[in-house]
Amino acid sequence: MSVRIIEMGARDGLQNERTPVSVENRIVFIKRLFDAGLATIEVGAFVSPKAIPQMVGSDAVLHGVKHLPGEFHVLVPNEKGYEAARACGAKVVSIFTAASEGFTRANINCSIAESIERFRPVMARAKADGVRVRGYVSTVLGCPFEGEVKPKVVAAVAKTLWDLGCYEISLGDTIGVGTPTKAKAMLRAVGDHVPMAKLAMHFHDTYGQALANLYAGIEEGVHVIDSAAGGLGGCPFAPGATGNVATEDVVYMLEGMGIKTGVDMEKLLVATNEITALIGRTPVSRVATALNAKARRPAQS
Ligand code: HMG
Ligand code: MG
Repeated sequence: MSVRIIEMGARDGLQNERTPVSVENRIVFIKRLFDAGLATIEVGAFVSPKAIPQMVGSDAVLHGVKHLPGEFHVLVPNEKGYEAARACGAKVVSIFTAASEGFTRANINCSIAESIERFRPVMARAKADGVRVRGYVSTVLGCPFEGEVKPKVVAAVAKTLWDLGCYEISLGDTIGVGTPTKAKAMLRAVGDHVPMAKLAMHFHDTYGQALANLYAGIEEGVHVIDSAAGGLGGCPFAPGATGNVATEDVVYMLEGMGIKTGVDMEKLLVATNEITALIGRTPVSRVATALNAKARRPAQS
């Protein structure tokens, strides 16, 4: 069995940070992640600069890394974002909506149905341009404004994105409230409409459940995981949400289960330590913390 990791550190990871990270440093970070073996990396977002100033310069970031033999994704909320992404050579774009109206309104200022109408012209142009489109559904295990979200509602939104032509649907536990049983029920409901092999798990770790939820999802047959180096991340429009599950923790778990990831942990740790130093934080990843502590320990005589 193999699991594909989609690295979120440069987009989800940095979009919520108070300390702005320069385009140059974002490029260095992405190159380090790529060098560590992370071949698919979300590198930026073509969204309103007023909404997410941290993602300004995503065009220059993409320009700076697109020559590398990897797959670089960017978020686009509408046709304007798609045009900007294409102008700098994006080959894979991600559209994003949610399974709850409250979060959709807070995040992208429209209803779920309106977001789908915004995506239609994006999908048509992407098809004509040969661009692949990934679809996100947020708040799949709970909404910061509405609480519980029903699996059948998640399934309906995921099916709509799938029917629109997305090649993969990433299911976001935006505020990290899920638990394994709920994650399984949600994935099964979505799996009735979209092949399990075409689903990805994008679980934030706010309540420390992400790894357990991922394990449950792998048991259900989902083999794509979104994670962020150092456990960075969060959405400014999801009150209380903290970072994505940490890539180090995911890699450690998978390798420990005999599932090859192709990620060099030492190189990943360098990328994480550099970016967290830049933003003045320590990594929240348990594995990064453990490995950093081990490296600091004086050699035993
Ligand atoms: P709006 O105000 O409804 O849009 O925002 P509008 O069409 O009325 O335009 C308003 C202004 O935004 C105009 O500028 C537009 O030009 C500009 P002004 O005339 O005021 O100067 N604008 C744009 N600028 C740049 N790029 C664009 C664009 N579109 C319009 N593409 C909009 C709607 C979606 C644009 C806005 O609400 C927005 O940008 N929101 C940001 C959402 C976001 O990036 N959230 C974080 C990412 S999602 C996430 O983190 C969840 C995820 O990780 C999964 C999970 O964890 O669940 C993916
Ligand atoms: Mg997210």
